[in-house]
Amino acid sequence: MQSVWSEDTQIRRRESLAGDMEAGAVVIGAGLAGILTAYYLKQTGIRAVVLEADRIGSGQTKNTTAKITSQHNLIYDRLIRTFGRPMAEHYAMANEAAIGEYERLIVEKGIACDFARCPAYLYSRTGTELLKREAEAAQSLGIKASFKTECELPLTVAGVTGFENQARFHPLKFLAEMAEEVEVYEQTKVLKVEGRRVETVGGTVTAEHIVFTAHYPFINVPGYYFARMHQERSYVVALEGAERLQGEYLGIDRDGLSFRTCGDLVLLGGGSHRTGVNREWRSREPDPVSRTGSGCSYEMLRSRARELYPGCREVSHWSAQDCMTLDGLPYIGRFSRRKPFWYVATGFGKWGMTSAMVSARILTPLISGQDCPEGDIFSPGRHFTAQAAKNLAMHGAYTVKGLAKHLLPSGNSRIVPNCPHMGCRLEWNPEEESYDCPCHGSRFDREGRLLDGPAQTDCRRRERP
Ligand code: FES
Repeated sequence: MQSVWSEDTQIRRRESLAGDMEAGAVVIGAGLAGILTAYYLKQTGIRAVVLEADRIGSGQTKNTTAKITSQHNLIYDRLIRTFGRPMAEHYAMANEAAIGEYERLIVEKGIACDFARCPAYLYSRTGTELLKREAEAAQSLGIKASFKTECELPLTVAGVTGFENQARFHPLKFLAEMAEEVEVYEQTKVLKVEGRRVETVGGTVTAEHIVFTAHYPFINVPGYYFARMHQERSYVVALEGAERLQGEYLGIDRDGLSFRTCGDLVLLGGGSHRTGVNREWRSREPDPVSRTGSGCSYEMLRSRARELYPGCREVSHWSAQDCMTLDGLPYIGRFSRRKPFWYVATGFGKWGMTSAMVSARILTPLISGQDCPEGDIFSPGRHFTAQAAKNLAMHGAYTVKGLAKHLLPSGNSRIVPNCPHMGCRLEWNPEEESYDCPCHGSRFDREGRLLDGPAQTDCRRRERP
């Protein structure tokens, strides 16, 4: 089933690249981050060409809950302790500025995309300590944040931490309008990037700058992003007949849910788990970073919906796939020291809307040779924290296990269930009828056709006698 955003939005089709061309910058991936980056580059006089393997907005932009917020779960108290106050301030202010920049663009261009300012809340049903600390930390960084013990949710909470003046919108309506301002080639899959030359099925683009904004960087070396991220899936049901909410909400407890209003609907989200880790595996091996282990899925969301909103009706459901970094902050900046003219924006976690805008606002000055001091906290080359080291070891263990399993007999499926990315054994995901890779999160349909990277090709099919 498709998201509520996809159901009512048609984005104009674009031609595929045919032939060779030169440009100031080539941006790979036409989601929000790619389109916004190309837009701002154009404002600085740089011709930016966007290449998209599928259609504009066909990746994760269409699967978001589209909260535009600087409230990224519990983050600011941790950022101050781990990176220091100036860096934490850069993170907070870059994200607050992103909200304002969305509003500015939408008003200036008259984009009808249901943009509305609203408060954003973190809630807990079990404790208040973390929420209070987060409110204080956010306040100290200049965010209008406060703690209180009551809210409008149809459940009892111990407390909520609210950020004022956050926002929500319809991401595809916004993207459709912004994409009109940039040069995009659709159905143009990038096959190879060598130096300043990008090779696609229909032609090449040679550019001074190459920008990777396609959800997951598909190049393994340099950068090694496959070792520095894992992917998570999460689920949304859209409910009719549920009471509208003024604010948008995220639970910080293990079974916490996400709530936001969208027109007459309430979007209820949750059930996040590491991609490729099935229910049985999850229940045996809870994962302290991704907080898997609770056996969540659509059924859990439907059951919670019935409990919270008796009489509500599900009108749509969908899932999202998010790239999670080792320290929980996106990678935005230079791709690698070995390729100073390559740039990347990835690892947005669950915060793709503000992170996409932040990416565009950091990459544009970097590429056009201006200062961007707030980019330090987002740099892929930032310092390695103790938590990041622990997570690196844990993700490595998943990879070792996935690689070891590929030696086991692989059953009678129509495909060889080994991931074409690096060979890990794929897990069958019965909820979404896909083969999912527990190592780095690639996904394939029942026939082995690629759904999500970093893999770039389909699975091998078995020869039938
Ligand atoms: Fe890397 Fe499957 S995604 S081995």
